[in-house]
Amino acid sequence: MGFRSLLKETAKSLLGRGEPSSPRAGGPAPVSAPQRPAPAAPPAAARPAAPAAPAAPAAAAAAPEAAPAAPVRPAATPAAPPSTPARPAPARRSGASVALPDGPDADGYLAIAPADRVSQGKSGTFPLPAGASGTGIVAIFRHEGRLYCIDNACTHEDGPVGEGEINGCRVMCPYHDWEFDFTTGACTNDPERPLATYSVREHDGFLWVGPRLTEGTLSRGGEHNDGMETIVR
Ligand code: FES
Repeated sequence: MGFRSLLKETAKSLLGRGEPSSPRAGGPAPVSAPQRPAPAAPPAAARPAAPAAPAAPAAAAAAPEAAPAAPVRPAATPAAPPSTPARPAPARRSGASVALPDGPDADGYLAIAPADRVSQGKSGTFPLPAGASGTGIVAIFRHEGRLYCIDNACTHEDGPVGEGEINGCRVMCPYHDWEFDFTTGACTNDPERPLATYSVREHDGFLWVGPRLTEGTLSRGGEHNDGMETIVR
């Protein structure tokens, strides 16, 4: 027996003993295993209804009318503005508020004003301090390095002589131009109408008035420089 014949015989032998792997063409169809009936689906009615989804809370369903207001933050306390630097006190007018020395000096003179209130060639008016030898207002002049003091009330009609125009050692009353020599108190317009004079000195930065030197008149009235007259009293 040849090799090929041997293979054929072997194949036949194997095919005859073993289970056919596939039905032979033309052979009886293999009996298939009975199919299991598919389990009947339960009737729809019997099915438990799916639990209804819980209704969303109305509040939740409803759109919010407005977004909740953001919490109001307390306004930050504004930083305090830098404090304005204190203004320096305005420079006081010379001696405007300078306290005067109390009491008289060694010679009984009383301080009446800071010395710088009367500059050279000028005048200043000041009330006589209590205890002075007179009352009212006086005018102090600084002329050629010396000080002079006279009553300020013009003997004509009480005009402020000390505010008048200075010409040498004379001052002209600003009201009606009566003229006075402030070194003596003499009135140019009427020799009978002098102004009182006072002693005055300067020390320790102040002007001091002392005793009255000459008497003035208390009479008022008289001729104007324009020729008119007022009643003398
Ligand atoms: S008041 Fe001084 S001149 Fe008349």
